[in-house]
Amino acid sequence: MNRERILTGHRPTGPRHLGHLVGTLQTWIALQERDACYFLIADLHVLTTDYAHPQRIQANVLEVVADWLAAGIDPQRSTLILQSAVPEHTQLALALSMLVSTARLQRVPTFKDQTRELGLQPSLGLLAYPVLQAADILLYKATRVPVGEDQLPHLELAREIARRFNPLFGVTFPEPQALLSSVPRLPGLDNRAMHTSYGNTLLLKDTPEETTRKVMSMYSDPTRVHPNDPGHVEGNPLFVYHTIFNPDRAEVEDLKERYRAGTVGDVEVKQRLACALNEALAPMRERRRDLAQHPERLREVLLDGTQAARPLAAQTLAEVYERMGLAPRVAQGEHARALPLVLGAFC
Ligand code: TRP
Repeated sequence: MNRERILTGHRPTGPRHLGHLVGTLQTWIALQERDACYFLIADLHVLTTDYAHPQRIQANVLEVVADWLAAGIDPQRSTLILQSAVPEHTQLALALSMLVSTARLQRVPTFKDQTRELGLQPSLGLLAYPVLQAADILLYKATRVPVGEDQLPHLELAREIARRFNPLFGVTFPEPQALLSSVPRLPGLDNRAMHTSYGNTLLLKDTPEETTRKVMSMYSDPTRVHPNDPGHVEGNPLFVYHTIFNPDRAEVEDLKERYRAGTVGDVEVKQRLACALNEALAPMRERRRDLAQHPERLREVLLDGTQAARPLAAQTLAEVYERMGLAPRVAQGEHARALPLVLGAFC
């Protein structure tokens, strides 16, 4: 069986929401059944926007691990990696940064958007964000990278770097391919894309009561003033959610029909959605409650994965250094293996 090597990750910006679950986590969980999967907690990448909040980053790392495991990421099959604990990520990023022009990086759409939002001079770290991401991928010689559409420009850069590196220094990196999620982006409570920074999320860890309260406040059909006005089903987030999360197809069809006819109010549609969501999320929440009581187990999973990934990272970096004329293999490879991990507050 030909196993692909998968690398993907999240920035630990906070607890995971349903957009993460539907858009990415479900794809990852399916992939780990047959491929060699590496899931990265990209804490260094958080520094590009949130370097002033050290405690927040640390707490969020564990939140993300808890949500991943609760959703079904299986540490027996997959390797979880804490980016900042493997110095080879930054070392490779620096070496690769020599192959990329600043003009190229200034054209990356996420950089342009963020710079506009910041209203400040962007940092060197923000400009180099996609180079670090390319290093994350190439360090493990990943062949497939499951990502959302917004990440495609970053993946394209990783591919360009591989294409530039290989003929110059000898074939080292496979050209990683994107695996695009087939699920469209989940709308948030306000019908914009669900995003941590918009405050419009439904969280995996929310209690059933919180979920119900949030669902009752959800955006629906703005053209509908009274419950007996005929309503719009298409493009209505309530029905996007019902379609994804409500396994009772007959109920969903019935609600749609009555919504169009103006014989069911938003309140009932929302109540039924809240019930369906709470039911669908119950097993994950139970696992998450257990995990939250054992933070040492979360740290252990992260530590074990990170340790298991390190030799591969050290091996690739040694090859790259040697090919680029830097410190030779023996010193690098052997040395790195003997080094303890830098886990700071996680130990
Ligand atoms: N930039 C990605 C995001 O914000 C996170 C990330 C970091 C990543 N390194 C990666 C994703 C490598 C895929 C592969 O979602």
